[in-house]
Amino acid sequence: MATLGLNIDHIATIRQARGGKEPDPIAAAILGEIAGALGITAHLREDRRHIQDRDIRLLKEIVTTHLNLEMACTTEMVAIALDIVPGMVTLVPEKREEKTTEGGLAVQELEKELSPRIAKLRKQGIPVSTFIAPNIEQIKASARVGATHVELHTGYYSNVTTEKARDGELAALREMAQAASKLGLRVNAGHGLDYRNVAPVARIEHVEELNIGHSIMGRAALVGIDRAVRDMIALIA
Ligand code: PXP
Repeated sequence: MATLGLNIDHIATIRQARGGKEPDPIAAAILGEIAGALGITAHLREDRRHIQDRDIRLLKEIVTTHLNLEMACTTEMVAIALDIVPGMVTLVPEKREEKTTEGGLAVQELEKELSPRIAKLRKQGIPVSTFIAPNIEQIKASARVGATHVELHTGYYSNVTTEKARDGELAALREMAQAASKLGLRVNAGHGLDYRNVAPVARIEHVEELNIGHSIMGRAALVGIDRAVRDMIALIA
């Protein structure tokens, strides 16, 4: 059965909106683990728009499942990962203007750059995952550059509007999970998964972990409003 890796970036986004201390993504990680998440994911972006260096340091201390550090494969980020030694590094493409990670990592095109950096991370005992489109060339390239895992990008599947297209994307995910596993890569998946579309992906053979953030934090905000409003009214009264 696939497990849930909870992405806590959006709690940090709310905190950064005011530049203060709350809400703290560390608290979100603890609550997420208490609720049953078996991994915590945080993306330290180059522009530090949500997760901060301090968050990663503290997460490394307090996460009791495993910490998945999402990052661009830059010199700066590799140095941070080598210092922190998270449970896993997931390499993602990063563009400053994007709202979230938009496409998969072009592993095939970046092989020369990625290989030595992945080797450094692996030497430190850190498993390395590449976040890629469900594409056979990217899977083969991920194996060549020394990744231990791939995270299949489910954004294409999540964005389709017809059943036929959805079935096509699901078939591609199934086929690519199989292909990755055959090459000795472990398989995770994520992006755009929500309460309506997650089940078929969770059933895909070889998929071990689903990384989900936006839909869970969005629902948390809504289902939490009743309690939060009542707590404030009680204090006002
Ligand atoms: N996996 C990766 C590599 C991501 O970049 C993201 C978004 O930060 C996710 C999973 C989670 O996506 P979502 O927030 O849409 O659930």
